[in-house]
Formats: sequence, C-alpha cells, structure tokens
Amino acid sequence: MTLDLAAADYTLSGLRPFPVAVTTVDGGRANGLISLSAGSAAIVPEAPRVTISLTKYNLTHDMVTRSGVFAMHLLAATPEPALERSLAIIMGLGGSSGRDGDKLAPFATKPGVTGAPILLDALSYVEGRVVGSLDADESTIFLADVVAAERFGTGERLRIGPAWQALPQEWIEQYERNHVPQLEHARRNRGL
Ligand SMILES: Cc1cc2nc3c(=O)[nH]c(=O)nc-3n(C[C@H](O)[C@H](O)[C@H](O)COP(=O)(O)O)c2cc1C
Repeated sequence: MTLDLAAADYTLSGLRPFPVAVTTVDGGRANGLISLSAGSAAIVPEAPRVTISLTKYNLTHDMVTRSGVFAMHLLAATPEPALERSLAIIMGLGGSSGRDGDKLAPFATKPGVTGAPILLDALSYVEGRVVGSLDADESTIFLADVVAAERFGTGERLRIGPAWQALPQEWIEQYERNHVPQLEHARRNRGL
C-alpha cells in the first residue's frame, strides 16, 4: 500500500500548535531556538516532566546533549505589546543558528536555577534537567524533570497560525532558506 502522505500530514501537523522558545547553556555559552515539538510527559502533578525534540543539525541540540539542561518558554499573544515581543523572539531564535552569533544578546534574560537563560518577555516557562533521551536518527527527543517554573503574565498563549500570519515575508523566506540544509541533514541521517 502506498503511504498517503496528505493524510499523514493532516493527522500529524498542528498537533502541537504552540511555538516555544528553548534556551540552554553549555560551558558558559547560552543559546536557544524555536520549537513546535514540546510536550508534557508525566501524569504525576507534583512531578511534571517535559519533552522536546531537537534536530541534530541545530547547535541547541548539541548543547542540550552536553549540558542536560534547558528552559522551555511559552510565548504570549496578548496583551499589547506581547505579540510584537513574541515575534521578535521567534525571529531572533528560529531563523538563524547560534553558530553564526549570539542570538540571545538582544533579549532581556535572567539565569534560571539550571543556569539556562530565562527570557523575561515570555509568558511562562519550565526549566528541565534531562533524565533520558531517544536517538531518533534525525533528531533527539529529550525527556526532562521540571525543576523550576514561573508565569510572568496572564495573557493568551501565542499559536503558530496567527504567528506565521504576522511574521514579515522576508523573515519567512530567510527561515525557509535555512530550513533546506536542515532537511537535507535530516534525510541523510534517516538514510533517505
Ligand atoms: C515554528 C518553528 C518550529 C520549529 N521547530 C523545531 C523543532 O521542533 N525542533 C528543532 O530542532 N528545530 C525547530 N525549529 C528550527 C530551529 O528553531 C532553527 O533551526 C534554529 O535556527 C536553530 O538554531 P541553533 O542552531 O542555534 O540551535 C523550528 C523553527 C520554527 C520557526
């Protein structure tokens, strides 16, 4: 039977509609990226866990592999000027690699309990210490104990649909250009 890719895409895309900013620190160097892969991973309310899936091509992947710590932030859609600040975070962290420069420098941060930088313009965050990981060929899925959390605002969470609509076309084109080598790397790692 031929795989129905349209049906697979319909089923799988949009399952996790909230873009998150993942930050980490390794050997004194801070970095981060944007992800749509974060999820809750525990049913025990007093011992929450979080998963993130990081592509091996990304610098943040290697840094989390080494340091075993990260912060995972939700972004805000409201009230003003939350959307503007959230879009700045998406553009700052999600469109280029920390290999090319310090992406966190333009943002207000404080060190979290793990040392990972906390983005003060985020809506809320959890900090995680990695307790396990799954090598998924093109990426690694990290499972972490939540060791700290904070909520900065009461606004609405930003969804990726409205975010794509509000992002400037030039930035989207830059993101798509950066995505090409990442996809090629992922295909090679999958033997495709
Ligand atoms: C909406 C959106 C979702 C993304 N989801 C992921 C993801 O789940 N995992 C991942 O590794 N990269 C994801 N990326 C790509 C990284 O954010 C991007 O490649 C980043 O430039 C990597 O930076 P780094 O090399 O400094 O780690 C996403 C980007 C965007 C804009």
